[in-house]
Amino acid sequence: MTTNQPWPVFEADTQLPASFYDKVTPHPETPEALLAEGRTITAHIQQVVPEAKLPGKKIPYYIPADGGERYLVAGTVVNVISRAADSGDIFEMFTVTGGKGAGQPVHQHNAHHVALYLLDGESELWLDGERYQMKKGDFASIPECVDYGFRFGAHRSKMLVWCSGPGIQHVLQALGEPTAYYIQPNNADTRWQPERMRAAEQAGDIAFAAEAFPEYTIKPITQASLPEETVPYTLAADEGQKFVGGPEYFALLATQQNTGGKFFVVMSQGPQTPMIPRHYHNLHTENFFCVDGALDMIVNHSQVSLAPGDFASIPAGTIHAYRMAKPFTRFMGFLTPGLFQNFFETLGEAGYQANVYPHEPHKLRFDRVLKELESLDLVIVEEQMRKMESE
Ligand SMILES: [Fe+2]
Repeated sequence: MTTNQPWPVFEADTQLPASFYDKVTPHPETPEALLAEGRTITAHIQQVVPEAKLPGKKIPYYIPADGGERYLVAGTVVNVISRAADSGDIFEMFTVTGGKGAGQPVHQHNAHHVALYLLDGESELWLDGERYQMKKGDFASIPECVDYGFRFGAHRSKMLVWCSGPGIQHVLQALGEPTAYYIQPNNADTRWQPERMRAAEQAGDIAFAAEAFPEYTIKPITQASLPEETVPYTLAADEGQKFVGGPEYFALLATQQNTGGKFFVVMSQGPQTPMIPRHYHNLHTENFFCVDGALDMIVNHSQVSLAPGDFASIPAGTIHAYRMAKPFTRFMGFLTPGLFQNFFETLGEAGYQANVYPHEPHKLRFDRVLKELESLDLVIVEEQMRKMESE
């Protein structure tokens, strides 16, 4: 739904205080380059009406489940929900859907930090010389130049894949063929063709290992805490570094400390909640992937609802807000670069140990957010918006 009312232009902050940069892990994409770009794009980006398609440029958009650019790759449907062109070369994202026995043989990327989250079914995971049994909700973080692969163990399995940096789309185009279908053909051929693999290695940043699916001893994923440096790791479903704030809890699945500052991943879980204040970020892109329940979002002057499997990309400058719209809602946030992590540490209480959101809401430390506002990449515009809307 959109309105026709005139829309104000909020200028991006012209200068963030020095204290802001103290909290940012150094990374080539932050902060000066993005800030310079952010200042010029914010005014423009707040006029964009998001559409349900890949935009081909870095503007807000959303993609209903399975509705991206799809390729049939060795018996899986790879559904691209963000390409380099849509993210300003910061990241690419896709889902891989397939049946038992389909997957991706062990390989690595030179310049991409990858994160995997198993959305459905089951999968084996190869990671840095180990082999794991992945269940729904398990997560893995795979830094550059680390071997990984996966093979599905159930007839309907689905993996969410995040790649920092551009270039994976060319690899997918070499590995597969465009498809209009949303699921793989029955009895799909899941074999990987050597000539396609060689073509992919020529086309982009991928190198396949000599052995596709090594017969290492398999073990379950039980890891519940995060490493503090950039190393490969797995994380069991509903684990992570947790904070509780109001009725929700936030679990960091990857942090800027273990992604070289490139991104962090946060899983939010909660009941039906009121809309949070409308706001925008000057420097980072925030991506929403709904896992359970429903999310109602405001994106600039539009309303967008996300069901499980739906995705929305909110580049720096875009005005946005959300509310959890079903009694059990879970969504993943992929925020890049990773500089906004201190928000969750400010808003929430650290050390939350439970695996479900609290029965009674905890205190929301919005007072701390307001106090720390100048150290956060956050511009709250709710008050200005309400005022404008009441006029
Ligand atoms: Fe936000």
